[in-house]
Amino acid sequence: MTRARVAVVISGEGSNMAALLYASCLPGSPFEVVLVASNNPDAPGLTLAQGEGVATWSLSHKGLSREAFDEALHQAIASARPDAVALAGYMRLLTPGFVQRWRGRLLNIHPSLLPRYRGLDTHQRALEAGDAEGGCSVHLVTEEVDAGEVLGQIAVAIQSDDTPESLAARVRLAEHQLYPATLAAYVSRHQDAGWIEARVDEIARELPEVSRKTSHGAPGWAVGTEKTAKLFAIIADRHHGEEAIGLLVKASGADEMNGLIEADPGLYYWPKYYGASGWLGLKLNRPDTDWTQVRDWLERSWQAAAPPRLTKLMRAAEEF
Ligand code: GAR
Repeated sequence: MTRARVAVVISGEGSNMAALLYASCLPGSPFEVVLVASNNPDAPGLTLAQGEGVATWSLSHKGLSREAFDEALHQAIASARPDAVALAGYMRLLTPGFVQRWRGRLLNIHPSLLPRYRGLDTHQRALEAGDAEGGCSVHLVTEEVDAGEVLGQIAVAIQSDDTPESLAARVRLAEHQLYPATLAAYVSRHQDAGWIEARVDEIARELPEVSRKTSHGAPGWAVGTEKTAKLFAIIADRHHGEEAIGLLVKASGADEMNGLIEADPGLYYWPKYYGASGWLGLKLNRPDTDWTQVRDWLERSWQAAAPPRLTKLMRAAEEF
């Protein structure tokens, strides 16, 4: 199994980074830590990472503009070729430019149950509000601080004698469980047939008159009225021993299919049984699926299966 390459960015203690690093040493971990980067050359986490043989990079942000620092951070991270970047106690705001470059691959851990208490002093605020529980969240990073999609959370009960420090210490224990597990699930999501199905579903439903239909028990999408609904896409989850979690779409025929498979065998395949009836397989359990290409194929396959009254409408809309 190729493991996802992860760069971790820290500012201080780095206990979450250590949790990620040691979790990556477990057999079967789907990720490895390839770089620990910091805006603080004295961050204790750097020494720990070096001791474990992990590459480190640091540069003090002092005296640099935010743009200049983020550019240097970006270059350092990019040269480690990571699949994901995990912020772990990184205490600086990132420029929108940095966030955009790593969109969808940038995760953060935050010490509250988001959407509650974005920003700082989360434990103090939870205690002052009289909350029964605090906790931690791992979320995707977007331009707006602590507002991206939440990927995982653990709630931590608040005790009557808690101080911000005592609560923070317990939340930290929860963080050390949450971050490695959530990161592992995130970097492995492309092997999860349910996740793939949900993404295809989002795209397929943008097309007119689409409904769900199964094909020999496999999830599929059809176009047309209830009576005439015709399948145009099917998910074949490692069908009959195949390696692929594939999306099956209608190609024009065997010649086109063979040509595509020869040109790009990493993406296209001839699906067992289905291939003979003109279904082409697209391997979707890959870390680098091009979802725009998947959208194009879904649209094309939809067009091949849709009744003329719908394809005419579609053409009219495109011309308009
Ligand atoms: C963690 O509690 C993390 O959630 C928090 O800083 C601590 C870092 O500890 N992050 C934030 O507050 C981000 N806004 P660590 O350096 O020991 O991992």
